[in-house]
Amino acid sequence: MTGMEVGRPRIAILGVGHVGSALARTMLDASYEVAVAASGDPKKIELIASVLMPGARAHWAKDAVADADIVVLAIPLHRFSSLDHRMFDGKIVIDTMNYWAPTDGVQALFEDTPLSSSEVVQGALAGATVVKTFNHIGYHEMEEERRPAGSPDRRALGVASDDPQVAALVGELVDAIGYEPIVLDGLAEGNAFEPGGPVFGARLTAPEFERAVTVDAVA
Ligand SMILES: NC(=O)c1ccc[n+]([C@@H]2O[C@H](COP(=O)([O-])OP(=O)(O)OC[C@H]3O[C@@H](n4cnc5c(N)ncnc54)[C@H](OP(=O)(O)O)[C@@H]3O)[C@@H](O)[C@H]2O)c1
Repeated sequence: MTGMEVGRPRIAILGVGHVGSALARTMLDASYEVAVAASGDPKKIELIASVLMPGARAHWAKDAVADADIVVLAIPLHRFSSLDHRMFDGKIVIDTMNYWAPTDGVQALFEDTPLSSSEVVQGALAGATVVKTFNHIGYHEMEEERRPAGSPDRRALGVASDDPQVAALVGELVDAIGYEPIVLDGLAEGNAFEPGGPVFGARLTAPEFERAVTVDAVA
């Protein structure tokens, strides 16, 4: 780690499982300030944080969120309704969650709707700005597939939000940790990132990614 860079957004990651811990390490490596939280007392995750995410501060979820500019939701989607949604007011919320009925159970909110899961999350978090990204890359790839800007094989990751400025800011974060951000026009476009979508789990360069989401939109 090279030390925190002044002016960078402060990150809170809710969830210290596969995705949360991998993303914490990538963001710490890129010199972001990172706080992490799970569902309970931070004492329970202090050891995990110090060993697996050295430099990340363990907090209660509400305190981590209160101090952050960007909050990453890296929890199982079926736990989303257990969160106090008002604590996200005014925050940028990165939604990494996917809806998998076999593991999440059938969730009526996400099952009986033409909306992408992140649009449903945005509807529930009316005071926040939701950005969909990181849901379409496996946790085991999040560190190993990072590449510096300009690398010919740099992997692209999609970024979708209804707020273009916020999408651009999160695109900077995606870039800083080692991926080529492809910013799409709105949260609904993030449908392409979901399980069954054309870029879900796909290792694509920027031109390949753009082609895949365009072809899918036309089809
Ligand atoms: N696995 C992948 O490759 C992958 C890739 C992209 C996206 N995703 C998505 O990422 C999300 C996380 O997946 P994962 O594999 O990392 O799950 P995981 O390993 O099971 O970890 C889940 C984490 O969420 C925490 N959590 C649960 N409820 C919480 C709450 N109310 N507040 C704060 N923390 C809470 C858990 O803490 P406690 O132990 O305290 O409950 C745990 O640390 C899922 O929605 C998944 O669909 C997964």
